[in-house]
Amino acid sequence: MFRFRWTLCVIFFVSIFAQADDSIYRDSNQPIEKRVESLLSQMTLKEKAMQLTQGRIGKNDNPNNIEKTKQRFNPIIGSYICFQTDVNIRNEYQRRAIEETRLGIPLLFAYDVIHGFRTVYQISLGQACSFNTNIVEQAVRVAAKEASQTGINWTFSPMIDVARDPRWGRVSEGYGEDPLLNADFCRATIRGYQGDDLTKPDTLASCMKHYVGYSESLAGIDYAYTDISERAMWDTYLPPYKAGIEEGAATIMSGFNDINGIPAVCHQFYLTEVLRNRWGFDGVVVSDWAAIRQLKNQGFSKNPLVQGAASLIAGNDIDMMSEIYMRIPKMVNQGLLTEDVVDEAVRRVLRLKFRLGLFENPFTEWVSEKDRYLQPEYMEIAEKLAVESIVLLKNENILPVTASNKKIAVVGNLLDDHDALLGFWSAHGRGEDVIGIQDGLDLYKPNGITFTDDLDEADMIVLCIGEEQKMSGENASRSTIKLHNEYLVDQYSSYQKPIVLVVTAGRPISYQSIESKVDAILHMWQPGVVTGTALAKILYGIENPSAKLAMTFPRTVGQIPIFYNRNQSARVGNGDWSGLYQDIESTPMYEFGYGLSYTSFTYSNLVINEDTLEAQVTISNTGDRSGKEPILWFVLDPEASITQPIKKLKSFDKVFLKPGESKTITLSLDKNIHLSYFDFQGNSIFEAGTFGIEVGGLTKTFKVD
Ligand code: BGC
Repeated sequence: MFRFRWTLCVIFFVSIFAQADDSIYRDSNQPIEKRVESLLSQMTLKEKAMQLTQGRIGKNDNPNNIEKTKQRFNPIIGSYICFQTDVNIRNEYQRRAIEETRLGIPLLFAYDVIHGFRTVYQISLGQACSFNTNIVEQAVRVAAKEASQTGINWTFSPMIDVARDPRWGRVSEGYGEDPLLNADFCRATIRGYQGDDLTKPDTLASCMKHYVGYSESLAGIDYAYTDISERAMWDTYLPPYKAGIEEGAATIMSGFNDINGIPAVCHQFYLTEVLRNRWGFDGVVVSDWAAIRQLKNQGFSKNPLVQGAASLIAGNDIDMMSEIYMRIPKMVNQGLLTEDVVDEAVRRVLRLKFRLGLFENPFTEWVSEKDRYLQPEYMEIAEKLAVESIVLLKNENILPVTASNKKIAVVGNLLDDHDALLGFWSAHGRGEDVIGIQDGLDLYKPNGITFTDDLDEADMIVLCIGEEQKMSGENASRSTIKLHNEYLVDQYSSYQKPIVLVVTAGRPISYQSIESKVDAILHMWQPGVVTGTALAKILYGIENPSAKLAMTFPRTVGQIPIFYNRNQSARVGNGDWSGLYQDIESTPMYEFGYGLSYTSFTYSNLVINEDTLEAQVTISNTGDRSGKEPILWFVLDPEASITQPIKKLKSFDKVFLKPGESKTITLSLDKNIHLSYFDFQGNSIFEAGTFGIEVGGLTKTFKVD
């Protein structure tokens, strides 16, 4: 009897403690790591496999993404790409995950919010030309609000693939050819999406992609093989990711590309050694769409179990749409994988869900679409960004259009094609949301300007042409980067009127054959919903253009790859472009950092203090209009044990100056940040010696011990 009672007592206490332990993960007062372990310890192998699986809800809006099986909702799957926008439907899925599964783990809803959700703003490559990370951060904040109010928790953005081949359609999605620009805009977007606290309802987990070197695809062909030297990896492609991790990026997407023979999704060195061991990243790595299944196409393995095990072991935590991680139990049974590896990946997914506060706030509060999207303050931010990112490439004393009594003919395919103005990855943006070019020009029309359809009687032609929406973006490589409709320039030149060429494009364009036939060129990129008003403000001089190119424009495709931070050649001197080709002028058409203004800026008094390593320059507005000027600081390292690029952008800023105003700008150089480089193993090396600093066309050399 005594023994029986004693046993009952033990069972009672054990069950109390067991219960307490079981529910630790639900207690928001517990540290996240404790909650993760508590939940993980209760999961079956099948439940773990499902947390590492990503499905789809709603109609897939990316025609490039192919599905193998019909998608069915299953509440134990860990995350979904959510293409639909009905918050009630989203919440019902969430309710089912919480109430109909054994452990009630909430779902994670993801979507490609790339340059806006409904308030679609300038494409990323255009954003980079603003050299203004603050305005980009504000625009990204808008996207985070609209998306989170639609039930999205996680965006697959920013894309920070340093891009040097304009034939590749995805150059539009990143921040151009320079690693620092990609790093700094990456930081800004992470701040914009994630805010200061991921548990707040108006934030999104960000996802840096496509790790790593996806942009280096052979001949600019999407999804192609990439052959990348260790030096290029450390110096060019990896730094933006390191910056993003320092900024607190929650997740990373591995690329589609095969890196030197090992596809990115199963590349243990980059996914585990670099990301986890060296950089201490404890967030989630998600594959790109069906990338694990595509290992077969890449010649890695035809066996899905081998594909899955290799990817998970390498450090890829979530399987997006390959439906292979669902078979993790089989991989473990066959000895291809140990459960420890599975646990490590599940930990990261659960950690993300806790960090997002999903266990406490799994549901999205309903806000009417009228109050959710396209708010006046959102449009204002989008317009500021568009104004600061439109690049004035040529101006033969024709812009701004201020003189009265002018008749203008506005023509071209962009007048009716609003989708072209939104650009690729326009999320839930709609053509009808866009303020069209003619509407914008009408709205801000100065007195005395009239519009005419009669080209013979016009004083000036504003020719608005450019790429259509699907000519750039994913799977939109082109073998020529001339405008497909550049023949219109010849057609309108026959009227012998001054022409202002307004171009939309998701990539650098080769202007070689049309540049001399027009009087001005405004390269707008794809400015989004506010195109008409932003263009009008620039055209009429209400705003002064202040953008500079984040990517070099070649004269012809034959010059590709062409970028400013190339290494020196054996015979052509430092920075000298001449004589590289016999048949064309070898300089780029417009180099990185090029862009005109309606005023003029003069740089003077560049000095550097060798003791404090402080550089100073004075910049003056010597024209008669106020304007903003991006200040680009380049460092030169002309002699090094591992030869260095001719120059490297090391810092940038943007200043506003009234006519006649001057400002002195200081840059404090840090040996480890500004004067060092990476060796072949990724170690940061500083070598004493002579360096140079270049800003606004002035150069100064200095010695550092
Ligand atoms: C793209 C990714 C994108 C994913 C999900 C893929 O085809 O490469 O950038 O995030 O689809 O839509």
